[in-house]
Amino acid sequence: MKIVIPGGTGQVGTVLKRALTTAGHEVVVLTRRPTGPGEVHWDGATPGPWTEVIDGSDVVVNLAGRSVNCRYTPANLRAMMDSRVLSTRVVGEAIGAAAHPPRVWLQMSTATVYAHRFDAPNDEDTGVIGGAEPTVPGYWSYSVDIARAWEREQERAATPHTRKVALRAAMVMSPDRGGVFDVLSWMARLGLGGPVAGGAQYVSWIHDHDFVRAVEFLADRDDLAGPVNLAAPGPLPQRAFMRALRTAWHVPLGLPATRGMAEVGAFVLRSDTELLLKSRRVVPGRLLEAGFGFAYPTWPEAARDLTRRRRGASGPVRAATR
Ligand SMILES: NC(=O)c1ccc[n+]([C@@H]2O[C@H](COP(=O)([O-])OP(=O)(O)OC[C@H]3O[C@@H](n4cnc5c(N)ncnc54)[C@H](OP(=O)(O)O)[C@@H]3O)[C@@H](O)[C@H]2O)c1
Repeated sequence: MKIVIPGGTGQVGTVLKRALTTAGHEVVVLTRRPTGPGEVHWDGATPGPWTEVIDGSDVVVNLAGRSVNCRYTPANLRAMMDSRVLSTRVVGEAIGAAAHPPRVWLQMSTATVYAHRFDAPNDEDTGVIGGAEPTVPGYWSYSVDIARAWEREQERAATPHTRKVALRAAMVMSPDRGGVFDVLSWMARLGLGGPVAGGAQYVSWIHDHDFVRAVEFLADRDDLAGPVNLAAPGPLPQRAFMRALRTAWHVPLGLPATRGMAEVGAFVLRSDTELLLKSRRVVPGRLLEAGFGFAYPTWPEAARDLTRRRRGASGPVRAATR
């Protein structure tokens, strides 16, 4: 198949491109800074010669968006929103205008669309969309607004010959340098991988192999459209999540951190505490119902595999250097 990945130069794109290329597919990445074969220039907002690679492709997986791992300043929030909405809009226009449109458009979204909650898991049918929780900082609703605007842009795109799926992905755990697993491992190995603010908040995650397999599954299954949660069936409280990660790295202790300490840490790392403190209890209702089998359904086993691969990895991946 010919698979086009707008925004495919980042952490998730690196995982996907590597796997799909190995599986024998032709992969074309759309990037604002092409550096080699298989990469085509676009600006993420306006049509251009790049639309020719969409025409005649089989699958489009749009990952483009300004990283959310940053301080939530007004300028950064605006860039997070605009980069997602505008890139999704222009990808939809390119698909809609194609003489030979792809048969499926997998559009990245996020598990963050769901509410901060502890009481029950969020699947696609019964899950609660976030933004109105009374107990969380008001600015957290902006991430939900971004996710909803992102999905709305795909929904409203006129692509009558192309099936549309929104990937409500949890954190994709891969052993590559610079990814979220790498950052959490670094903290755990420094002895800082303890509970944060009590650690009751749920962490949703998906192993990189399962992420790739789910993308392939969704590309193949003509009966599936709309939002699909890409998360392992076993989300767990942050304190248990970090305990399992420490065990996988053979680190006996993890210092706990208060909310205030997390604020300082997030400031130093130029990040935001929402990424640590929001309870993301998300489960893959539609994938399981459709018969998808997870190779890594539970975190301790996934963490063991990822640490093993991380120890054996050589050299930085591109995601870490951009
Ligand atoms: N990583 C996760 O665990 C995870 C989980 C759920 C959802 N997601 C979402 O999945 C997508 C990919 O995640 P990732 O971790 O691979 O992100 P990433 O490493 O930050 O990569 C995203 C890519 O988007 C492109 N981009 C950035 N700003 C842009 C802009 N203003 N206009 C157009 N393109 C822009 C960049 O490509 P160029 O600089 O080459 O143009 C970048 O490589 C993101 O939208 C993210 O929010 C990620």
